[in-house]
Amino acid sequence: MEFSAKTVEVVTLASQCLVLGVFKAKKPELTAAGEHLNRAAQNQIRALLERGDMDGGLGDAQLLYNLPEIKAERVMLLGLGSKRDFNASAMRSAASAAAKLLNQRGLRAADLCLLEAAYAQADSRRRARTIVEAMENALYRFQQTKSGPHQKTKLQRVTLLCERAHRAKVQRGLHEGAAIARGVTLARDYANLPGNLCTPSFLAGQARRMGKRLGLKTTVLDEAAMKRGRMGALLSVSRGSREPAKLIVMEYHGKPRAESPVVLVGKGLTFDAGGISLKPAAAMDEMKYDMCGGASVFAALQVAAELKLKINLVGIVPSSENLPDGAANKPGDIVTSMSGVSIEILNTDAEGRLILCDALTYAERFKPAAVVDIATLTGACMVALGDQASGLFSNCDALAEQLLAAGAASGDRAWRLPVWDEYDKQLESNFADLANIGGRYGGAITAACFLKQFAKKYPWAHLDIAGSAWVGGAKKGATGRPVPLLVEFLLNR
Ligand code: BES
Ligand code: MN
Ligand code: ZN
Repeated sequence: MEFSAKTVEVVTLASQCLVLGVFKAKKPELTAAGEHLNRAAQNQIRALLERGDMDGGLGDAQLLYNLPEIKAERVMLLGLGSKRDFNASAMRSAASAAAKLLNQRGLRAADLCLLEAAYAQADSRRRARTIVEAMENALYRFQQTKSGPHQKTKLQRVTLLCERAHRAKVQRGLHEGAAIARGVTLARDYANLPGNLCTPSFLAGQARRMGKRLGLKTTVLDEAAMKRGRMGALLSVSRGSREPAKLIVMEYHGKPRAESPVVLVGKGLTFDAGGISLKPAAAMDEMKYDMCGGASVFAALQVAAELKLKINLVGIVPSSENLPDGAANKPGDIVTSMSGVSIEILNTDAEGRLILCDALTYAERFKPAAVVDIATLTGACMVALGDQASGLFSNCDALAEQLLAAGAASGDRAWRLPVWDEYDKQLESNFADLANIGGRYGGAITAACFLKQFAKKYPWAHLDIAGSAWVGGAKKGATGRPVPLLVEFLLNR
């Protein structure tokens, strides 16, 4: 879709569809543009509202035709819910409902009077961004693995009507929103691809292509290079797989090279069967989503480069499969990580931390200002927080605050859990420096405490996105989270 901003007289605008917001109330309330149109249309809009066909409930919509004195072919009344409760989340629901209905009706273009629906803590730039993200997200479809013919998105041109004084800000928001939406789409596409197509080698190839397209420096370490780097933990996970592991590194420079970068590390486990500690068969297909963290790192680099952010950014994606095999890790095996710390593998299904710990050590060479790792790390995090919040863990309060604020502002929320040293004793091993599991209780926390051991040299945060990055069940698919959070965080740095 193409988005633009315009300042026009709505009454005489030749539009395929003009979209007007309606707040829910005893007497449903139009926004300023709506009142203006209603007066021009001899009170016909109000008359319809008074008949009770449309009460302004959030996401409800009603199409009107043949309004007198109005040039638009149709007017869509779009429910915004109650004015008091109107916020970013309501704006997203309304914009997403509008996108779906416009597209369903086969309309190619629409003009939206939605920016005037205001809410706290969001100027017109942010509101424009929110609308673009929500509309693009609503019309996302994954069809790459269907034989076709593929459905095309009908809706192609969306214009946000705004006051002249706000136009520059709105355009900025549209530009940002479109880049974020492309990032979310990229992350969803990679994650939705099945494990036989989206392999570590596939991701490495994609990184090289993206690097060329956006002028990033891309480096891919193969298993021989990892061996030279003594990445014994990462390599041990890959031993049970016929697909060679890759450590993918992407560098974006928006500032002089001397400036310390932010480093994002994303778990790129392209399929997690659990290894010898095999997972149960039910819903095991969903473990193709175990590379959602890695996908969000690809997306963050793409958005940073497209928006030419004034930061230095490094993305590191350790990528491997985790399968049972004669050569696979066995419970009780002890491996030595790149940092020299030995690890007793008590459960081969706790593999994410094994590939991440070496990537965290590798990150040291970039002298990072901050490192954020992103991983579908634990079922325990889903139990704790459900699908609404990503789990946030950090050894640095300032960094944690920045990430929490970015989550709140982008509507892609995180919630902090502790990594107190007192939890570390759950990871003690009789035979190695560290065990890879911490027992029954606090599983998301002990997983984070494991990573903490490898992140002592820089401010570090960990996002556990097991619950937020994808949805299961009949509508199963990737959500593209936490790309909006990451971009917001990077925009603010
Ligand atoms: N990839 C899984 C975590 C996961 C589970 C993500 C369900 C999304 C949905 C991870 O590798 C894993 O298997 N973790 C284990 C850890 C346990 C063995 C300590 C888990 O959560 O069960
Ligand atoms: Mn696992
Ligand atoms: Zn996993």
